[in-house]
Amino acid sequence: MTRWDLIDRRALLAGVAFAALASRETVAAAATKSPVLPGDIPPPLDGTWRPFPISDPSLRSLDDGWLFHLGDIVPAPVIGHEESYQNAKAGVAQGAAAVSYDDSDWRMLDLPHDWAIEHPVDPAANVAQGYRRRGIGWYRRPLQLDPAWRGRYLELQFGGIATRATLWFNGIEVAHSLSGYGAIIIDITPYARFGEELNTIAIRVDADAMEGWWYEGAGIYRHAWLAVRDAVSIVTDGVHANPVRSDAGSWSVPVTVEIANISAEPAGVTVEARLFDADDKLVTAGTTSAVAVPLQTATAALTLSVPEPRSWSPDTPTLYRIVTRVLRDGMVADSREARIGFRTFHFDPETGFVLNGRPTKIKGVCIHQDHAGVGVAVPDALIDWRVRRLKALGCNALRSSHHAPTPELLDACDRHGLLVMDENRNFNPSHEYLEQLEWLVRRDRNRPSVFMWSVFNEEPMQGTEQGYEMVRRMAAAVKRLDSTRPVTAAMNDGMFSPLNVSKAVDVVGFNYQAHRYDRFHALHPDKPLTSSEDTSAFSTRGAWKTDRSRNVFGSYDKDAADWGATHRDGWRAIATRPFIAGSFIWTGFDYHGEPTPLEWPSTSSFFGIMDICGFPKMAYYLHRAQWIDDVPLLELAPHWNWPGRLGEPITVMALTNVDSVSLWLNGRDLGTRKVDRLAMPEWQVAYAPGRLEAVGYRAGREVVRAAVETSGAGVALRLTADRNVMMGDAKDVQPVTVDVVDAKGRHVPVAVDQIRFAIDGGAIVGLGNGDPNDHDPEQGNARKLFAGLAQVIVRAGEGRGPMRLTASAPGLRPASITIDRVAVVPRPAIARTRPVALLSEWRRTAFAATRPDPNQKFASNDMNSLDHGRPGRLEGPAKDAPWSMYRTVFTPRRRVGINGGVVVFAEVVGTAEVWMDGQLLARKDTPTPAPVMAPFGPGTGPRSLSLVVKADPDAPSGMGRTVSVQERQGADSN
Ligand code: GAL
Repeated sequence: MTRWDLIDRRALLAGVAFAALASRETVAAAATKSPVLPGDIPPPLDGTWRPFPISDPSLRSLDDGWLFHLGDIVPAPVIGHEESYQNAKAGVAQGAAAVSYDDSDWRMLDLPHDWAIEHPVDPAANVAQGYRRRGIGWYRRPLQLDPAWRGRYLELQFGGIATRATLWFNGIEVAHSLSGYGAIIIDITPYARFGEELNTIAIRVDADAMEGWWYEGAGIYRHAWLAVRDAVSIVTDGVHANPVRSDAGSWSVPVTVEIANISAEPAGVTVEARLFDADDKLVTAGTTSAVAVPLQTATAALTLSVPEPRSWSPDTPTLYRIVTRVLRDGMVADSREARIGFRTFHFDPETGFVLNGRPTKIKGVCIHQDHAGVGVAVPDALIDWRVRRLKALGCNALRSSHHAPTPELLDACDRHGLLVMDENRNFNPSHEYLEQLEWLVRRDRNRPSVFMWSVFNEEPMQGTEQGYEMVRRMAAAVKRLDSTRPVTAAMNDGMFSPLNVSKAVDVVGFNYQAHRYDRFHALHPDKPLTSSEDTSAFSTRGAWKTDRSRNVFGSYDKDAADWGATHRDGWRAIATRPFIAGSFIWTGFDYHGEPTPLEWPSTSSFFGIMDICGFPKMAYYLHRAQWIDDVPLLELAPHWNWPGRLGEPITVMALTNVDSVSLWLNGRDLGTRKVDRLAMPEWQVAYAPGRLEAVGYRAGREVVRAAVETSGAGVALRLTADRNVMMGDAKDVQPVTVDVVDAKGRHVPVAVDQIRFAIDGGAIVGLGNGDPNDHDPEQGNARKLFAGLAQVIVRAGEGRGPMRLTASAPGLRPASITIDRVAVVPRPAIARTRPVALLSEWRRTAFAATRPDPNQKFASNDMNSLDHGRPGRLEGPAKDAPWSMYRTVFTPRRRVGINGGVVVFAEVVGTAEVWMDGQLLARKDTPTPAPVMAPFGPGTGPRSLSLVVKADPDAPSGMGRTVSVQERQGADSN
């Protein structure tokens, strides 16, 4: 017995989010109790969700403790001599990029963050972006680095920033990002400061830039990391370990490991690769050696042969782990873990897609990356939940339309078994853009889920010589990095022109174009063809009648885009043509933006098989019945609450994969229909309240039942969690469904009550209800039900013990649930750091025999009479010239300006005087190293600060440690 055998099949199929739909019972006949669905997902209530362990142990999370400012900050124009000179220098960025910028008023938050979803919708904003204002924003983060890390390799990593970004580290402009979907990887080793000398990351994000025609969010919406590695270490994405099967049938894993060396000496290393199976048993291992030359990359290669591995497929997503280590002098300098899978596949131009030797129709969906309540900042656990929903739908593939997915999505696809068409955003083989594509391939080429690289979507140049030449270059770039997966491109035109991109790809992708499938296949019988996008049907969850005047689409699968097809027609065109490898339905979930074919007041899309919360529409039950064969499935649509329509005909559909279905209303036989799964049976039923029940038959035997029942008035609220255990790490989230039940505990499908939520032991991170026309905020603690359902996304607070969520609404019994928080070892993270105003940039006079004037003026065009002085660096000794003076100009942070502050010299060596704007603030009368505190009064504007130092004869002098400006004791800290 497998562990899934213990689980109620209904929970597996429907997921507990759908347990809220309790009145639409699906009752399995005893004869069909087992087997459970092959390859189905872990049951949602098992409480075991955990992210994969971090594959790179050098990573520390940098998600927490960012300061955020909405709106641009334009630095004052650079006018004077000195500013012009300084402005051109490394480390002297202006405005909010400057190390010394006063960010006291900025909001502190944790990543992932999407500021656009925090905004109300605005009819004047862009329709495609869901009528959310996006704009420009700034982030800053003080970063303290452990002195023990000096000499190690330090790298910042941002998974994705929407949309364009400029990044500074310690006032040095270190990166530009042209795409919101690519990672930004920055070696900060040369600029890093350690210990009490803080570092500053500043990021300007331009989210007015648009890369797509869908909601793209705004801000640092994926994870941020700091890698802390040995001086000799594995390059980010530098392990390539993708299993291959020889023609003779034997498996091997060729492994290459790229090694960098930032030390000054060549390093001889041993490189080791070990393969572990799904039970964590060592399968095989190998070693090789390499020499890493300073500031160059060495590549070590070895091959592991693997006898008879278990295969990976959507039904059996068996993952192996390959652990590569670099050893230096017998010590592990660095390691990486990749989860890999053994599978073969090819695209046959006649029979379609073949996976592990078995013809397999691709039952895929396209998705965007946002979700109700959270926008594009989708927490990892919610990403995993969305993939589980797709698995329960019977889906076996996903297209990350139209851009690089977040790695956590690919983790979920590897783990649960979804093939991924991994897509590139920008169709452009010029240098910087080609780098985006190469990065994508390097990052994802070990993943078993990834089975195709898509270089574009619907590009106007697709039917031209130029388009062909562009794809040829992009395909070649892919092949240089991964020769095992086909390159495709999603074409919607141009495929019949003399020279077009179909000639430059391995598998031709068609977006829509069902009317051209046969002609293209006849003309190019040797070219594999798949749908890369199809359907584009419209429906509103819970609505059964299209009413364009109210921006509502019915769910009976009648409405589709002019260029698309209904769900049934779209699938029929593919299911009936073996040469079409499969389908990628537009889309798995509704998403913010693109409310095609409508506009305001609709702000999110109507295309989804599920709504934006992941609640199923009728299309969900339709495709599930079309895509899952072995377990009998039956659902009835619509619900059976139609007061005021007594005696009127209602169209009833059965969504099923059985041979025939009989329908009964309150015990009266309404007839039996044979099932055509491409169409699905329908009845016209004169409405009478009560119980509508369907019985499904296979080979003449009853195998499954379903019923919908008229509910009474709502009396109580109900909360249904996906999991009853969460990780108490302040990161784990889950969606909780809220609905209304009648006195008999039956779901009320038409409830629209306004619900308020309260939580103890956690936080509410977002709200949704699936209504594309609802303009209520998606954050906060209140939400209306839409068509009987709403979703509240909760995050477990740090610690262990119960988390309690309560829902209340006028006239209804409140509901509450308790979710257990378990203690977990948190991922290594860089702690939040309070910003400290450090005075790091000083000028210093030459040593002199006499005391310098602390109020001396220096010509602003004199770049050379003064040296640069730095806290932490003593100067001298200078014979017979013990005097020197340090000078800086600073503007106090806001609270210090209001309350006054203290300049804290952590250590001054020599006797000293501290002067500010012509006034003596403090003196130090002994030359031995000691701190100096110089209090000063309130006042805004720049202050000129001088430190006059007199060294002991022949001894070095100056500022031995940092200089900071702190608030006066007793003032509130900012
Ligand atoms: C396609 C496009 C998708 C989406 C869809 C809507 O042409 O690739 O991104 O816009 O149309 O039908």
